Order: sequence, then C-alpha cells, then structure tokens
Amino acid sequence: MSEPNQDQARSPAGAAPGTLAGGASPATAGVSPGAAQDYWRGCRRLVGRKALLSAAARGLGIACAQRLAAEGAEVWITDRDPAALALALSDASAQGVELRALEMDSGDPSDVARCLAGVLERSGGIDILVNNAGGSLHTPYSFADQSDEDWRRVFDLNLMGAVWASRALLPVMVERGYGRVVNLGSKAGRFGSLIAGPNYAAAKGAIAALTRQMAMEYGPHGITVNCVCPGVVMTERTRGLWAERRTEVERARVLQAIPMRRHCEVEDIAATVAFLASDDASFITGVSLDVNGGQAMA
Ligand SMILES: NC(=O)c1ccc[n+]([C@@H]2O[C@H](COP(=O)([O-])OP(=O)(O)OC[C@H]3O[C@@H](n4cnc5c(N)ncnc54)[C@H](O)[C@@H]3O)[C@@H](O)[C@H]2O)c1
Repeated sequence: MSEPNQDQARSPAGAAPGTLAGGASPATAGVSPGAAQDYWRGCRRLVGRKALLSAAARGLGIACAQRLAAEGAEVWITDRDPAALALALSDASAQGVELRALEMDSGDPSDVARCLAGVLERSGGIDILVNNAGGSLHTPYSFADQSDEDWRRVFDLNLMGAVWASRALLPVMVERGYGRVVNLGSKAGRFGSLIAGPNYAAAKGAIAALTRQMAMEYGPHGITVNCVCPGVVMTERTRGLWAERRTEVERARVLQAIPMRRHCEVEDIAATVAFLASDDASFITGVSLDVNGGQAMA
C-alpha cells in the first residue's frame, strides 16, 4: 500500500488562534460561504485531536479534512486514487494546511482493515472518524434499470465502508473513552433524490439508521455518532449528473424552491462536520442533520 507524500512536514496553517483572516468580522460570517470561511479561520476547537476521513482526496472530503486540520487536528485522509491524494496534499500545503495521506479502497473490507490497523499503529489512536466514502457511482436513476451489482456496489461504498472503518477504529475510541463518528448521509436518504436512484437513497437511509443505533450503543463510552445530510453540493461529480438528469428549466425551478436560493457549498458541510467533531457538540448524538438550505425540512 503506497502512502503518497506520507508525513511530509508542513507548517501549520492559517491565521493564529483567535484571529480572523481576510479582515472578516464575526458579524459578517454567514453572509456568504466566502465570508463564513474567513470567520472560521479563528476556530481552533480540535487541537490535540486526530482525525481520519475516508475517500477524502476530492469534493466534500478534502474540504472537511482541510477544515479539521485548520482547527488544529492531526488529519489523515484516505482515498483509492493516489494521484488525487498527492494533489490534495500539495494543494493543502500551498494553503498552509498539514495533512497525512493513505491509499485505501473503502469498498474493500480487507484493505480497510489493513490500512486502518496501520494508521492506529502510527497515530496511537484516532479520535474523529468521518465516514465520507459514498456516492451513487453513476448507476442508473430508475429502479427498473438498476442491477443487483448496482445495488451491491453502492451499498458497499456508502454503508459497508462506514461499517468497516468504524469496526477498525471504534475499539481504540472505547479504550480511551472518547470519540466522534460523523457519517455522510444525504438529503436523498430522507427525502429522495433528483439525481441519484433508489440504491443510493436506500443506502443513505441505512446509514442514518446505523447512526442512531450506534449512537445508542457507544454513547456510554463517550463516543458520539452523527450523520450529516447535504442537499446537492456542486462537486465535479454532481455537476455532471445535475446537468445530465435535469433540464435547465427543472434546475432553475429547484433552485428557486430552496429558501436560501443557492446550492450547498463544500464549506457548508465542512463547517457542520467540524462542529459535530468538536466538543461544542458533546451532547449531540444519533442526529441526522439536514444541511440543505431548507430545500427539505422535517
Ligand atoms: N456531492 C453531493 O452533492 C453530495 C450530496 C449529499 C451527500 N454526499 C455524500 O458526501 C460524500 C462525498 O461526496 P463527494 O460528492 O464529495 O464525492 P466524490 O464523488 O467527489 O468522491 C470523493 C472521492 O471518493 C474517492 N473514491 C471513490 N470510490 C472510492 C473507494 N472505493 N475507496 C476510496 N475512495 C474512493 C474518489 O477517488 C474521490 O477522490 C459521499 O458519501 C456522498 O454520498 C454528496
């Protein structure tokens, strides 16, 4: 198993604790994703914590990893794409953020077990696990067109990937009496999806159910388990699906129906994950948190 740029020393980042980069003030935070990004650079809630994120070389995962690292955590990102990992490390480094990377296939239980055993040995224990691996893997939208293989692959990545990673890392969290597990769910699992099919919606529904059950079991050990449910976030992957599976008129209508009148940004998810990973959320567990601008509410 190769480890691109493993453990490269980087100078830790961002603005000093308590300062706000870019001249933003707390009063401007939340005005736009950019302003919110300026505000969080003063946040150092994760100093001394070690975090691991799956499938995190791109998209939501890398945004969450950068945010956790900027808040002070020692962060490991895993992904099956070594080139993307190397790029993620150098991008983060250019922004002054230190990350560690490991090639791992989240859809392969033996690879997950082997890689995470190695991480535990080297890190001495992971406090924060973000089960980010997922996606609809470009499987068909219609139930009638989905094969058993489409169902199996999507369940393996979205649900079993989280099961396998949790199985590897939870015992050490239990030993230490502390842990944070944040699972990536989706609006799809709660309200259905406009771009992904029933296999994906069912897998995301399952991860929300898994979150609640694991929260019950692990709460007595000081471990919280929560699920973040984004609406569509315009990443490389979803931008293509969105254009392919919805007409321009439909896309405009959907946007108009979102109370916040915009799509989710990766920074919105990174902020939510960082909150749930921090001690600010120490009494929140078993929750599926909608981050969709009010597009669907329960
Ligand atoms: N993007 C969205 O609109 C959206 C919305 C709701 C929920 N989500 C969820 O958020 C999570 C991240 O989504 P994203 O859109 O950022 O993902 P993405 O498709 O952009 O992929 C992120 C990374 O996953 C890696 N990857 C793919 N298969 C892998 C495997 N088997 N093992 C290891 N790495 C693998 C890829 O190399 C890539 O670097 C997923 O669980 C997804 O279901 C995304």
